[in-house]
Amino acid sequence: MPRITPDEDLPEFRVNWERETIARAQEHWTPERTAQLADGKALLLPPASNAPLLRALGLLHRDGSMPPKQVRKFWQVCHMVTLLSAQLRDVFANGKASQEPIRIVDVGCGRSYLTVVLAWMAKHQWHVPVQVLGIDRNPDVIEECYRRVRLLQLDDCVRFMHSTVEEFAPAQAWALHYSAAATDSSGDATTAAPHVVPTAAAQAVVPTIHAVIALHACDTATCDALALAVRVDAQLIAVAPCCQAELARGWAALAERAEVGAFAAIWHTPHLRRETGADITDAMRAVLLRSAGYNVSAIEFVPSEHTRKNTLIRAVRNPDTTPEQQRAHRAEYDNLVAATGGIGIALAKSLGPA
Ligand SMILES: C[S@@+](CC[C@H](N)C(=O)[O-])C[C@H]1O[C@@H](n2cnc3c(N)ncnc32)[C@H](O)[C@@H]1O
Repeated sequence: MPRITPDEDLPEFRVNWERETIARAQEHWTPERTAQLADGKALLLPPASNAPLLRALGLLHRDGSMPPKQVRKFWQVCHMVTLLSAQLRDVFANGKASQEPIRIVDVGCGRSYLTVVLAWMAKHQWHVPVQVLGIDRNPDVIEECYRRVRLLQLDDCVRFMHSTVEEFAPAQAWALHYSAAATDSSGDATTAAPHVVPTAAAQAVVPTIHAVIALHACDTATCDALALAVRVDAQLIAVAPCCQAELARGWAALAERAEVGAFAAIWHTPHLRRETGADITDAMRAVLLRSAGYNVSAIEFVPSEHTRKNTLIRAVRNPDTTPEQQRAHRAEYDNLVAATGGIGIALAKSLGPA
């Protein structure tokens, strides 16, 4: 027998859903519970006043409560957005000057937590026009992502695309998802991957992409996101790397060949190889981004009890960087590679010489 599910596309369903969600959250989130969640920190998204967002993202249960696993995701996203707010304000100022919507790509968007929170904040708190595009290599998440933005009525400013970051082509993607043809006659966004075929002229226009972000995109996808961001000359880049094992794999090969070097004790120890490899990879990413003309910081964005993958690499394009400075940073990268065994990261090749 076919399963009968509520028709979430009906406005009536949405209104009732929103009303019930808010009522349950307001009942659950007493000042004491809210203070306990905040634990002395400022809450970017107090659950009682952001209940539809948090419920649509699956961060609140039906009864309004937030289970411990969801608390971790909640804090990851909140801290990341908070730590980007000053930089985002600069991006918004540029967009306002050029009268353009702010275009943001979320690489490896998964179930769209960060993607949707950014769009929600832009619409309801920052009051800035945005076009957010979440891309993911997993086609199974896309339909769920669209369901979330339809429920939240964010489908005018958030789209999703099944694509690997390596294959992602910004001009085609924007023509497909944000051209006039990608909205239906009522002005609403098409709700799943659009069927329209953009014209060749539309596909040739490379839009300004203001920011590229990635939260825990797997393995080398973080570096691919960085390469994309530099290629499109994004003003702001923010990535929280996941589990890139590229360097550790290279070091394992050195250990197998019994190579000698200052880092040999690390090459030979799988645990240290992974842990040290992750930190050195982040250092290499930072210095490579500097060599590409960005001001870069690598900071802890969330306490390690929420996730051990808690480094945020934040980079802001610096138009005043001189070619000499860029070359000096590239030399710094080369020195770091040499000092740690001669294995670098593929990002260096993707970015080309400074
Ligand atoms: C750990 S999940 C994180 C998802 C989401 N950003 C979040 O924080 O909840 C990593 C996501 O990256 C996607 N991914 C991994 N490699 C990718 C690639 N090369 N191109 C696009 N997406 C990729 C995976 O399919 C997965 O959904």
